[in-house]
Amino acid sequence: MLSQKTIDIVKSTVPVLEIHGETITKTFYKNMFEAHPELLNIFNQTNQKRGRQQTALANTVLAAAKYIDNLGAIVPVVKQIAHKHRSLAVKPEHYPIVGENLLKAIKEVLGDAATDEIINAWAEAYGVIADAFIGIEKDMYKEASEQNNGWEDYKEFRVTDKVQESDLITSFYLRPADGTKVPTYLPGQYITIRINIPGEQYLCNRQYSLSVAPGHDYFRISVKKEAEGEEHEGKVSNYLHKSVQIGDKIEVTAPAGDFVLEEKDTPVVFLAGGVGITPLLSMVQTVSEKQPNRSVQFIQAANNGSVQAFRNELSEIKLADYELGFVYASPTDIDKNNPYFVKEGYVDRDVLAETIKPDADYYVCGPVPFMKSVIATLKELGVTEEKIHFEFFGPAMAL
Ligand code: HEM
Repeated sequence: MLSQKTIDIVKSTVPVLEIHGETITKTFYKNMFEAHPELLNIFNQTNQKRGRQQTALANTVLAAAKYIDNLGAIVPVVKQIAHKHRSLAVKPEHYPIVGENLLKAIKEVLGDAATDEIINAWAEAYGVIADAFIGIEKDMYKEASEQNNGWEDYKEFRVTDKVQESDLITSFYLRPADGTKVPTYLPGQYITIRINIPGEQYLCNRQYSLSVAPGHDYFRISVKKEAEGEEHEGKVSNYLHKSVQIGDKIEVTAPAGDFVLEEKDTPVVFLAGGVGITPLLSMVQTVSEKQPNRSVQFIQAANNGSVQAFRNELSEIKLADYELGFVYASPTDIDKNNPYFVKEGYVDRDVLAETIKPDADYYVCGPVPFMKSVIATLKELGVTEEKIHFEFFGPAMAL
């Protein structure tokens, strides 16, 4: 238990941290990776270079500080992060390293303003926050291990098929290299894959949603080839597209994530932007297998038909009440003749207004601008927050 004095000190330093939060976490990462370069095998270097993870951590530390006397209020956020941590094999022994370097960074950036009293209060508070994460993650490791025959972190899988789905998206079918069965998972969950790219000093890992309903003897991920950039962007996806072939081995962690389909009777609307189709495809296939009478509307947005993945799989879904629509930003004449073509442009207010039904649940996945605009418009149209379920690619806090 933290003393009231510690709680007061921690809360009163939040405004200072809000001003310096990002500088502190940047300093923290720099120091931590100098002292523990082995952690570069865990962290996504592209996120690091673009400052995304820095912001995520800064925001979370501040959020936790504000709720330090009521951490229960932020359990849903902690759980979502804990899923990511578990899927990346973050372990309890990593927490003191993060804690030590975070405190050092606070001291370095705040200078004399960081008195011993403040540092000690933060050390205590960090301990409480870290214990909350460690506790939730411990349960998740236990559950993963129980459900997956002792599989806790990375395990070798073999690429058993590689299928091009569009000009930009290729699917990889993965089966355990030791011949064991793939475990079941919840539609919407993701896996982490880890690969050793020749010429790279550290291992690279990435999360990809499972793009097929559970119940097969393989995992399927569908990877968009990202544009390659100076800040490491596209390294992993391009390597997967160009160099990883059928028969190759890659390491995989057990499925994780809390953006999952709820088995309810309400009508459901899926809104997919670009490669955000992947978890939603797994979900809609699951609805068709388990709840064929549930009312489903599926809207897929893509730039045009050549970069659109899974057009056929979506049109083959069998449901009693199923409405499918494609929205293309720059359609070709062929796209405009597609029987499911709805509109040239974006998933805007007009498109969304057509989807409004009492009690419908909305599942939204796509790039950040798509998510921001779709979620804001749904709210304007009167859809309540608890009816909007979403996930996008990148640290969740960025939304
Ligand atoms: C991701 C917070 C401890 C490694 C994240 C995210 C947040 C966060 C907010 C983004 C979640 C998302 O992508 O949806 C925290 C907090 C911690 C903590 C508040 C301490 C209380 C740790 C530790 C490690 C770690 C001890 C391991 C050394 C990672 C990694 C990611 C991540 C590798 C994935 C993002 C990336 O690679 O850029 N964490 N974390 N975290 N965390 Fe933590």
